[in-house]
Amino acid sequence: MKAVKIKENVYWVGVIDWNVRDFHGYVTSRGTTYNNFLITDKKIALLDTVKYGFSDIMFERIRCLTDPEKIEVAVCNHIELDHAGCWDKVMDVAKNATLYITERGKQGLERYFDVTSWDIQVVKTGDSVKIGEKTLMFIETPMLHWPDSMMTYIPEDKLLISQDAFGQHWAQAVLFDDLVPQEVLEDAVIDYYANILMPFGRLIKAKLADIQKLGLEIDMIAPDHGVIWRKNPGKVIEMYQDMANGRAEEGVVIVYDTMWHSTEKMCRAVLDGILDEGMYAEVIKLRETPMSAAVKQFWKYRGLLVGTPTLNNVMFPTIAEFLQHLRGLRPESRIASAFGSYGWSGGGVKDAMQTLESMNLEVVEPGYEVKSRPKKQDYDAGYEFGRLFAQKVSEYHRKFD
Ligand code: FEO
Repeated sequence: MKAVKIKENVYWVGVIDWNVRDFHGYVTSRGTTYNNFLITDKKIALLDTVKYGFSDIMFERIRCLTDPEKIEVAVCNHIELDHAGCWDKVMDVAKNATLYITERGKQGLERYFDVTSWDIQVVKTGDSVKIGEKTLMFIETPMLHWPDSMMTYIPEDKLLISQDAFGQHWAQAVLFDDLVPQEVLEDAVIDYYANILMPFGRLIKAKLADIQKLGLEIDMIAPDHGVIWRKNPGKVIEMYQDMANGRAEEGVVIVYDTMWHSTEKMCRAVLDGILDEGMYAEVIKLRETPMSAAVKQFWKYRGLLVGTPTLNNVMFPTIAEFLQHLRGLRPESRIASAFGSYGWSGGGVKDAMQTLESMNLEVVEPGYEVKSRPKKQDYDAGYEFGRLFAQKVSEYHRKFD
């Protein structure tokens, strides 16, 4: 296990987790990395740790460079346990270390660990510590990703250690943005943003503006997950600005489930209507697709159609779970509606429409519901429903031009 140099005297000492597929419910089909960094200046500084259970790998990489006992400066940018999970082990070894953290971070860390013997220094935006030739400057970024979060900027290297922000869940053997296929990288950025940062779009906009106001020169961004942006850090900043501004493709994703294939058949009619309006569309059957993949596809396109059968007078459980999850992600700048089938008394589409209306979405009324097996006139109506929805998506999308 070797450390990887990212700047003069700055090294990645993290972990590649090839196998993780369930990241607190987020299906990480590409695995992930837990990036952390060691700076070998006059003082030895460790920025973040790795997920609990991986400390051996981290220490092995650190030992390539120095004895972990020599760490004097410890920076906890974020207390979530995929980054803070080994601070107990580090502080146990590095007896002379001072740990720099935000006030909210300190309060949180005290709930995870017995910190009574730790030397903790609370910092806020603009505070800095000189560790020799380099300076660590702290920037609070509350709710990106947790209330405690902050970033560390090293002006001498124009390096921003950004913790969760600008990351990707991607277990890559190579560490830098210029060494990976760009289309996969972009997809991984969108996947991560949709599933983790979607609720914080307004905060991201504000924080990006704050960072601009600070006038930081940035030529490398090193997040705590995924590849490090050494060639094109501006690209990920631009992607974040676009996503925080609600950017989406002009298209529709149909997320559906089905019991006896009636809703599925309707889905085809609705899809034909959308396509005949010249609009791009994708179809996702929820029972065959990880929730996080459906969330990513939802986030890519302007329009969402939900197809649900009625079960016990309400929407189908997989659809209910999806919409509940989506509600927590607080999406904006998207337009939606619902369709489906029922056996005798209905209620599934109404339930889905009410849930969509409870979110900050533009909802196209009414939804479209069919009794039992769709007949010719039902297909025709479903087709027209698809055409109308595509027109509404186009109209709505133009507002974001
Ligand atoms: Fe990667 Fe919010 O932790």
